[in-house]
Amino acid sequence: FLQTLGAGGVTAAALSTTLPGMIPGIGRGMAHAAETRGVQQVTAAPATARLIPGGAVPTPVWAFNGTVPGSLLRVKQGEDVHVRFENQLAEPSSIHWHGVRVPNAMDGVPGLTQKPVAPGDTFDYRFNARDAGTYWYHPHINSPTQLARGLYGALIVEEADPVSVDREFVWLIDDWRLGENGEIDPVFNAGHDVGHAGRLGGLVTINGVANPDISVRPGERIRVRMINTANARVFAIDFAGLAPHLIALDGHPVTPHVPDLPVFLFAPGMRADFIVDVPPDASGQFSLIDRFYDGLENPLASLRVAGNPVRGDVAQTSMTLPDNPLPEPDLQNARREQLLYTGGMMGGGVLRHLVETGKIDAGFLGEVRGMAQSMMGMMTGGGIWMVNGRDPERDELGPLFSLGRGESCVVTVTNATAWYHPIHLHGHAFRVLSRDGQPTRYQEWQDTVLLAPAEQAEIAFVADNPGDWMLHCHILEHKFGGMSGFIRTA
Ligand code: C2O
Ligand code: CU
Repeated sequence: FLQTLGAGGVTAAALSTTLPGMIPGIGRGMAHAAETRGVQQVTAAPATARLIPGGAVPTPVWAFNGTVPGSLLRVKQGEDVHVRFENQLAEPSSIHWHGVRVPNAMDGVPGLTQKPVAPGDTFDYRFNARDAGTYWYHPHINSPTQLARGLYGALIVEEADPVSVDREFVWLIDDWRLGENGEIDPVFNAGHDVGHAGRLGGLVTINGVANPDISVRPGERIRVRMINTANARVFAIDFAGLAPHLIALDGHPVTPHVPDLPVFLFAPGMRADFIVDVPPDASGQFSLIDRFYDGLENPLASLRVAGNPVRGDVAQTSMTLPDNPLPEPDLQNARREQLLYTGGMMGGGVLRHLVETGKIDAGFLGEVRGMAQSMMGMMTGGGIWMVNGRDPERDELGPLFSLGRGESCVVTVTNATAWYHPIHLHGHAFRVLSRDGQPTRYQEWQDTVLLAPAEQAEIAFVADNPGDWMLHCHILEHKFGGMSGFIRTA
C-alpha cells in the first residue's frame, strides 16, 4: 500500500515503479495479490530534500512521511482506504484527496468539511476507492505555503484489468521557487504573484529531482502517470517527438489519442496518463522540455535509450482503459448555472471583448454587477479575483449555487481574465462538453478544467455526492486572491 519514492540522493530507478508480479515484456499487472490492509500512517513534518543536483546542502522542506513527494499510496479499485493523518507541523493542516469522490466529511477542507488538524493531532480519513486512476493528496489549509514547501503525494487506484505495459512511472511534477541561499523562498502570496500568474519558480522537478536521467529500452511501452503539483506553473510539455498516447485525464479514461498540439498543456491539479512507446530503433535520448512562457524553457526529464530492444515492433495491445462508474449527466433536463471569473491584472479588455462578442450574457452580467463592488478594476480593495462578482475576502458567502441530490447540472464557465485558470471541483468528475461553443472531441471527464484567457467551457455533472464542495482555481495564489467558492448538494 505504501511505497516510498526516495527523495534524498534519489536515482533514476526510484522514478519508476515496477509492479510486483509484472512479467517482463508485455505483462498484465497482476500486482499486489496478497497484501495486508489496514490503517496507513501519513505524517506531515519538516524534513529535507536534495532538490538541486550536486547541491551541497539539502533544502529544508515540509513533507509527508519524510520524503518529497510523500509516500506513494497504491490501492485497488473498490478497496477501502484508511489513512491516519498526523500533523507534526507547527501549524494546522489537513489532507485533501484531489479528484477522489470521497464522502464530504473526508474531503479535507478545514472550515468547510472538517476542523483544521492542529499541531500534534491526528485525523482518520476513510473512503472507498470507487474510481480507478491517478489521484493525489495535499493539504487544504494555507495551501500556497504548505504545497510550495513540499506537502503532496500520489494516490494510485489500480484498475482490475489495466492496460498492458512493460513499466509504469508515476511523475509528480513540481516547480520550486528557491531563494539565493537555496532555501525555499519564504515569501508566500506575494501581491504580484496573486494578481498575475501565481508563484512561478524555475527549478522544475520530477519526484523531487531536477531533470532526471531515466533509462528506457528500445521498443519499451511505458505508462506515465503525470501529476502537476506546482502552485502555479502550467507546463507546456514538448515530448521530443515521442508522440505518446493520452489514455486518461484526471484519473478517468479518455479515448486513447495523440494530442495534436505541439505541446501538451498541463495545469496545476491535473493528471494525465500517457502511453509512451519508445521506438524499437531508437537510440540516444529524448529530452522532455516545458516551453510555456516566452523564452523560458525548463528541462523536465531525459529518457536515455539503452539496452536491447524489448520487441521488434511497436507494441500493439489495447490502450483503452475500462470506464469508471461515473453517473452520466442528463443534459436535456439539466439545471444551467454560470461561473464568471474576472479580475487579475490586465483583465478589463478581456471582459469587454467577451461582452461585445456576446459570450457573456448581458442579463447575467447585470446580476453580477449588482453583486460586485467593482467588476472592472478592483479599485476599491478586497479580492483581486472574483467569481460572479463575489469577493470571498470581504463577504460572508454562502454556496455559489445549490443542487438537488442526483440533479444534473451544466455549468458555463467563463474566463474573463488575461490569465490561465485550472478550475477544480471537489467530490465529482464532470464532462467537458464544449470549449468556446465547439463540442469537445472526446467529451472528457475531468475534475480540473484548464481555461485559457477569454476561454469559455461548458461542463456537466450529476450532483450525487451530498455536501459542500469547493470549486476553485488550482493556481493556489489565485485561490488565495478570491478565485474560490463552493457548491452545495442536498
Ligand atoms: Cu487539489 Cu481544492 O484542491
Ligand atoms: Cu487561476
